[in-house]
Amino acid sequence: MSTAKKVNGRVTIPDIAARKGGKPVVSLTAYTYPMARILDPHVDFLLVGDSMGVVLYGLETTHGVTLEMTIAHGASVVRGTEHACVIVDMPFGSYQESPEQAFRNAARIISETGCSGIKIEGGEEMAETVRFLIKRGIPVMGHIGLKPQSVNVAGGYRSQGRDDNGAKQIMEDARAISDAGAFAIVIEAVVEPLARAITEAIPTVTIGIGASPACDGQVLVTEDAIGMFADFTPKFVKRFAEVGEGIGQAAADYAAQVTAGTFPAPEHCYHKK
Ligand code: KIV
Repeated sequence: MSTAKKVNGRVTIPDIAARKGGKPVVSLTAYTYPMARILDPHVDFLLVGDSMGVVLYGLETTHGVTLEMTIAHGASVVRGTEHACVIVDMPFGSYQESPEQAFRNAARIISETGCSGIKIEGGEEMAETVRFLIKRGIPVMGHIGLKPQSVNVAGGYRSQGRDDNGAKQIMEDARAISDAGAFAIVIEAVVEPLARAITEAIPTVTIGIGASPACDGQVLVTEDAIGMFADFTPKFVKRFAEVGEGIGQAAADYAAQVTAGTFPAPEHCYHKK
């Protein structure tokens, strides 16, 4: 179980920000109440990622995730937690237009879900927005490197920072989002030495996903890590369980027993006194 300091029963944003260079921050994604309840005791924060579009809704990209979906799932995850800090991903199109648009939608997410902070993708170009939100009371987690919401510009889901120019830009993105006041920055699919160098260069907590063990914490998409989403498994995912196989086996056993007439058994039926 995580031992991060708790205030009012829940890990806070300052608790996470204070973990720079300390005990690694543990995080997983969650989109639903039952999953949040299972994961809550084991993580410092749960991320209601817009990966829900792909993992939960079967969309090809995260672009179809709406503010309404985000709020409904964010609220259910908050209801399913009492220990973990909950961070909600702002969906594509809900913050890129202007700092004012970002504030309006972030405020809705915070007030309608009860989450502690939001995450937005982007580097230098989003620094002004990050600063704007933080000044107005909204804690922001950054997200640099591979940015799934920009997949059409990037031309695919590829590891980042392989060439000098790309690496320089990602380092500048990290510095800009850190300077703007983000309490943590997700670094996704970035070559290991660069993720390590960023973690050493900035005072902000870094959360790696396909980045480096040197990051100040790690996050994974839960369904990837437990074998419940087999459509595509990135190189950086380790399977910690094969839950999908277990569910398939349970469904097969159920079907066999219903077909054979052995379920429901007498103990599953109501009987007269
Ligand atoms: O949407 C998401 O789940 C994320 C994580 C992959 C960091 O952004």
